Amino acid sequence: MVVEAKACRIKDLGLHVGGNVEVKGWVHLVRQHGKNLLFITLRDGTGFTQVVARQGISGYDNLIEVHREAAIRVIGEVVRDERSPYGYEVRARHVEVISPSSPTIEEEYQPNSSPDVLLNKRHLVIRGEKTSSILKYVAKVLKYFREFCEERGLVEVVPPLITRAACEGGATLFSIKYFDEIAYLTQSSQLYLEAALPALGNVYCIQKSFRAEKSRTRRHLTEYTHAEVELAFINFDELIDFTEDLVIHLVQRTLEEDEWILKKLEVDDLNVPKKPFKRLTYREAVQKLKDEGVLIKEGDEIDESMERRLVDQLGEPLFLTEFPASQKAFYFKRKNGDITLSMDLLVPHVGEIIGGGMREDDHEILLLRLKEINANIEDYRWYLDLRKYGSVPHGGFGLGVERTVEWILKLPHIREACLFPRLINRITP
Ligand code: 4AD
Repeated sequence: MVVEAKACRIKDLGLHVGGNVEVKGWVHLVRQHGKNLLFITLRDGTGFTQVVARQGISGYDNLIEVHREAAIRVIGEVVRDERSPYGYEVRARHVEVISPSSPTIEEEYQPNSSPDVLLNKRHLVIRGEKTSSILKYVAKVLKYFREFCEERGLVEVVPPLITRAACEGGATLFSIKYFDEIAYLTQSSQLYLEAALPALGNVYCIQKSFRAEKSRTRRHLTEYTHAEVELAFINFDELIDFTEDLVIHLVQRTLEEDEWILKKLEVDDLNVPKKPFKRLTYREAVQKLKDEGVLIKEGDEIDESMERRLVDQLGEPLFLTEFPASQKAFYFKRKNGDITLSMDLLVPHVGEIIGGGMREDDHEILLLRLKEINANIEDYRWYLDLRKYGSVPHGGFGLGVERTVEWILKLPHIREACLFPRLINRITP
């Protein structure tokens, strides 16, 4: 009886054709063919494979009792099999149940259960083939973002999430009790990235950001993954150029490495965007919308449906630039009057996935801006110091990781790009 063999992850089975291996994983699906034959789809996180077990092998009697999600250990021969959806199967010689499951697994949820049930059972739903694939792709996007920043010589930092200085305005702040004080969950790491510039040079981070936005849309989370960049000694055009290169890199690398998921989700029209991306100033965008009969006037916000209107018909990324100061945070540098050096990158299917711009680098003007929003100046003293000691032209942006995945994979809702989404009415599981 063979009970020892070389441990193998499912994704590496192809390297062991004809050999004996040990695979451990979870029973994804079990089908019984008569009394003598079991087909098990086994999952180990790296992939899926088919295990074929015949009556008479050691451990078969235990296996026959097994339910979906039981953890098992299999020793068997790897055989190439064109009929198997996974290309290979493991013909079991020995099986062990490491940990059983329960028949109640079948009652937990159905693929067509309501979104609420699926979210309640997210801890089980994420084990599914499609959901786990999306989560693996999220990891790829983080990798591609990091590799781009590293290639450009940026240094990764890990700013605090608990803060006193609001970045994006008071309306969407989550406050927390911090011993005897009130503190906030960060809306963006930007202010800390700015502080890191003179110490480390150009920097980036991948951190959670929090927004108390009461928006029930396909693209809003209350906690999301924010990939941010801050660059010193640049101008607005250079910032836009850098942003374009990043987006191109994300798409290019996806096309190089991730055909598997594009195929699975039937995304067949992903193309590398061409530089320069189209640009519209806020004024031009408002005029275009007006011309198309949309009810909007100068000074109004370009909302999600308007963004989609602008970008969906274009079918490629679009920069909106130069928003009025009334719509942007205090720190934006102005081009003139109340026009900010700001940019949002819109993409089809989602709208805005990136927001950023140039930062006010003059101490007196920044102080004035803080007073205009009635900020507690003491909370921003350190931030003002950055303009006292070696202030330089600088800018940056933040990319919403889940929104980016929603765009590239054409997901119907941002929650699908999250391990455990935080939504207005959901903080569990
Ligand atoms: O445009 P935002 O608010 O920009 C900032 O926070 C800047 N301080 C970033 C910077 O310059 N370092 O947010 C940036 C991006 C948005 O374009 C969007 O992709 C994402 O963050 N985002 C959200 N994603 C999911 N749910 C929400 N509620 C989001 N709010 C913003």
